[in-house]
Amino acid sequence: MAKKIVVIPGDGIGKEITESAVAVMKKTAEKFKLELNFEYHDAGGTAYDKFGTPLPDETVKAAKASDGVLFGAVGGDKWDNVEPGLRPEKAILGLRKSLGLYANLRPVKVSETLVEYSPLKSDVVRGVDLVIVRELIGGIYFGDRCESEQHDGAERAWDLENYSVPEVERIARLAFETARIRNKKVTSVDKSNVLATSRLWRRTVTKLADEYKDVELDHLYVDNCAMQLAIKPTQFDVICTGNLFGDILSDEAAVLGGSIGMMPSASIGKETSLFEPIHGSAPDIAGKGIANPIGTILSAAMLLRYSLREEPAAKAIEAACDAALADGYRTPDLYKDGFKKANTDKMTEAILDRI
Ligand code: NAD
Ligand code: IPM
Ligand code: MN
Repeated sequence: MAKKIVVIPGDGIGKEITESAVAVMKKTAEKFKLELNFEYHDAGGTAYDKFGTPLPDETVKAAKASDGVLFGAVGGDKWDNVEPGLRPEKAILGLRKSLGLYANLRPVKVSETLVEYSPLKSDVVRGVDLVIVRELIGGIYFGDRCESEQHDGAERAWDLENYSVPEVERIARLAFETARIRNKKVTSVDKSNVLATSRLWRRTVTKLADEYKDVELDHLYVDNCAMQLAIKPTQFDVICTGNLFGDILSDEAAVLGGSIGMMPSASIGKETSLFEPIHGSAPDIAGKGIANPIGTILSAAMLLRYSLREEPAAKAIEAACDAALADGYRTPDLYKDGFKKANTDKMTEAILDRI
C-alpha cells in the first residue's frame, strides 16, 4: 500500500535540504519498489508570512494523518521580533507536542572517513558511537512562563521546569530499551546537585534500572557530561536526558563527527513520528545552495527504518552517504584541500548515484 510522507521544508536552508532528501527517498523507493506519496506543508516563518501563524492547523492535521513526517528547519532573523507565541520555532515545538513526540533520538557515529574533520584529536573521537535520547515534550520548554513582570521594582521574566514520574519513566524506558540492542550502557544526565526536577529524574531512572539489570547505568551532572563529551566521548553508549540539557549536549556531540550538518534525528511518540536534522535554518548560508544535506538525508533513512520498517532501504541510504564521503565529496562545512568541492546539488547527486 502507498505510504504518505508529509514534507515540511520550513525556512532558510530547510527548503534546500528537504529537496535533497526527497530526491534520495524517491530514488530509493524506485530501487526497493516502495510506493511513497509526498505531500508538502508550510510551517515556521514562511507559514507566519502566508497565514499569520507558524503552525497552520492543516499542517498538524496532515502530519497526524501521515505515515511519517520529514521536517527541514524553521527560524530566521526576519522573525526575531514577532510576538513570542508566533515565533517560527513554535512550529516545531507545536508539532512535537501535538504528535506526542516524547523522545528524540540523536545518534552520533564518527566514521573513519570523518575522524580527521573533528575539532578534537583523532584519537579522542575515533570509534565514537553514541545516541542521545532527549525528552522532547516536557521540562522547561513547556512549563509556565512569564515574558515580563514587575517584581521588587525591577522587570523580570521566568520559565518553570517540571517533570512528572511518568514522563521520566517513559523516556528512561526507551533509553534502556535502546541500550539493550546497542552496547548496554545508559548514562543519565541531570543537575541533581541543584534542581528538584533533576532529583526526581535521578530517583526515577535509578528505580527503573531494576527492570534492566542487563544494562549498566551511571549518572552524570550535565556540566561534567559536557566536559566528558570533549575529553572521552567513546565512554558513552546511550545518553538519556531532559529537553534543555539534551538540546545543548546534542549540538556539542554533533561536531565530534565534523559538522552539525551531518546529524539526523528521529522524534518518536506513540503514532506518527517526525524526522529532522538537529541543526537549524542556518540563515548565514541560506539561499546559497551550499548547505550539507546529509543530516536531512540520514533523517529520511531513519524515517524508512522506524516509521516504514524498511530496513534495507534505510541502510542503502546510509551506505550511499558513506560512499559519497569516502569518494571525497565535501560540502563547504567539511571541505579541505585535495577533496571534491560539492554544493548541495552536487553532494545530493553523488549520493543518488550511489543508491
Ligand atoms: P543553526 O543550526 O541554524 O546554525 C548554526 C551554524 O551551523 C551556522 O553557522 C550554520 O551555517 C551551520 N549549519 C547548520 N546546518 C548546516 C548545514 N546543513 N550545512 C552546513 N552548515 C550548517 O543554528 P542557529 O544559527 O543557532 O539558529 C538559526 C535559526 O534556526 C534560529 O532561528 C533557530 O531558532 C533555528 N533552529 C531551528 C531548528 C529546527 O527547526 N529544528 C533547530 C535549531 C535551530
Ligand atoms: C532543536 C532546536 C529546537 C529545540 C528549537 C528550534 C525550538 O534547537 O531541534 O534542537 O530547541 O528543540
Ligand atoms: Mn537545538
